[in-house]
Amino acid sequence: MAVLLLLWLAALLASSSAYAPGFDYFVLALQWPGTVCRSSAAGGPCCSSNACCRSDRIGWFTIHGLWPSYAHGNGPTCCNNADFDMAKISNLTMELQKYWPSLYCSSPSLCSGGHGSLWAHEWEKHGTCSYPVIQDEYSYFSTTLHLYSSYNVTAMLASKISIGADDGGRYTRSHTPSRRRHKEEDKQWIWATNAAATQSPVSRLD
Ligand SMILES: *[C@@H]1O[C@H](CO)[C@@H](O)[C@H](O)[C@H]1NC(C)=O
Ligand SMILES: *[C@@H]1O[C@H](CO)[C@@H](O)[C@H](O)[C@H]1NC(C)=O
Repeated sequence: MAVLLLLWLAALLASSSAYAPGFDYFVLALQWPGTVCRSSAAGGPCCSSNACCRSDRIGWFTIHGLWPSYAHGNGPTCCNNADFDMAKISNLTMELQKYWPSLYCSSPSLCSGGHGSLWAHEWEKHGTCSYPVIQDEYSYFSTTLHLYSSYNVTAMLASKISIGADDGGRYTRSHTPSRRRHKEEDKQWIWATNAAATQSPVSRLD
């Protein structure tokens, strides 16, 4: 499944542009709220700017970002001065709040200086480097949401290794696995993401 989706991105590239991207593949980075919301790096679980303690608890992996990456690690960042503009993605707001919420209390840094929302950070740091595969802010967010729902890791892990809430998708403290299990499962997902991505680097179809 992951391979197909990555190939889809590569096909987009081949048909739409003569430019080669300055990276090798995309990593779709996801996070498990139960783990992130407990970490001190997130600044504590509850604050008005994050989704950790909202009334409809999150029982699914959420999106961190879509990161253009080099085969040898990391990837390009902060590639142009396209400032984040919420108005451009206003018709995606509901989906973004559900599947791409901030789980941090602190505001991440922006390429342009200062701090902003998780969405602004991801667009400026990673999205601007996705060109020409992804050409603008709206496409960055809509493509990432599309990949996320097509490659449903929450459903995949729920059926394969019993991660996630057992009560139909609602996340409660009593249903979360132990911290240690979270860690193991996080590791497995990171491995799965990278392995899938490595199998079909965008550059192979140049
Ligand atoms: C949402 O907005 C984008 C750009 O602002 C536009 O291209 C797209 O067609 C819109 N989608 C819907 C379903 O209205
Ligand atoms: C992922 O799968 C679960 C379980 O089948 C479903 O409830 C959820 O809506 C799916 N998520 C997305 C983003 O499609």
